Amino acid sequence: MNTSVNLAGVTLKNPVMTASGTFGSGAEYSEFVDLNRLGAVVTKGVANIPWPGNPTPRIAEVYGGMLNAIGLQNPGIDVFTKRDIPYLKQFDTKIIVNVCGKTTEDYIEVVEKLGDYDVDLLEINISCPNVKEGGIAFGQNAKNVENITSTLKKYAKQPIIMKLSPNVTDITEMARAAEAGGADVVSLINTLTGMKIDVNRRTFAIANKTGGMSGPAVKPIAVRMVYQVANAVKIPIIGMGGISNYEDALEFILAGATAVSVGTANFYNPTATIDIVDGIENYMKKNSIDDINSLIGAVR
Ligand SMILES: Cc1cc2nc3c(=O)[nH]c(=O)nc-3n(C[C@H](O)[C@H](O)[C@H](O)COP(=O)(O)O)c2cc1C
Repeated sequence: MNTSVNLAGVTLKNPVMTASGTFGSGAEYSEFVDLNRLGAVVTKGVANIPWPGNPTPRIAEVYGGMLNAIGLQNPGIDVFTKRDIPYLKQFDTKIIVNVCGKTTEDYIEVVEKLGDYDVDLLEINISCPNVKEGGIAFGQNAKNVENITSTLKKYAKQPIIMKLSPNVTDITEMARAAEAGGADVVSLINTLTGMKIDVNRRTFAIANKTGGMSGPAVKPIAVRMVYQVANAVKIPIIGMGGISNYEDALEFILAGATAVSVGTANFYNPTATIDIVDGIENYMKKNSIDDINSLIGAVR
């Protein structure tokens, strides 16, 4: 039975990965999860310098999920490369580093520095606010998506995954722009912008006013977007958004994802990723499926 999949020449032992920002850099979860069993670990977003993140409160529960406005708090690339990469190198799993920045130059600096390290793929989060464009995320304008992708391709030593925002009218336009810019892979979806109001405090539940929605309630939107993107581009897709069990993961794979990321589910079930790896293997055995690749995009 083959569970391995290929992302831009990188072979993952199985398609199950963590979603950026929900798994730290692995250390926090290694008590619960044998990282050797994961296809890849995707790290929290890292910028060129430390970011303090947003004021609290910055998470809130909602029906079927959560809102977060962490504000991409991170220690900066220099601490990250000294502390987190050596930690992850102890395990037999692929390392995907999620990159964020406020300007193109910020992204370039991080991508260039990561070229000196033994990491497998870079995931570029283009939902970060672009200060030069007045706070509009890079990922909300097709021309910007293509430009930042082609620029980063010039500097990146590793293949790049462009992580798409669902907060757009047509996700296929953004996916095509990433492909045109030379992206090796696209991943989707990032969180959907939402809001919650605390009626007792008569103010916003989150200090930032809006937050990104994730968790089981967003899954049907994410599956639809993965299906649409699979029909629009030729490069591989990493699917995510509300995956909490193996059946959810298989939905994304059948819709066209080569690999999947598990995010919010880690918070209420720390072993979610391993349960999904086991669940996919059992499903394949039960249904006499020899190769997971035969399931990718099998629903048309
Ligand atoms: C607390 C939290 C922090 C996140 N941080 C990042 C991040 O740093 N970079 C990024 O690209 N996505 C980040 N995300 C988005 C997730 O990686 C994922 O795209 C999204 O949550 C949908 O998947 P899920 O429903 O399984 O959580 C974060 C999500 C959550 C809930």
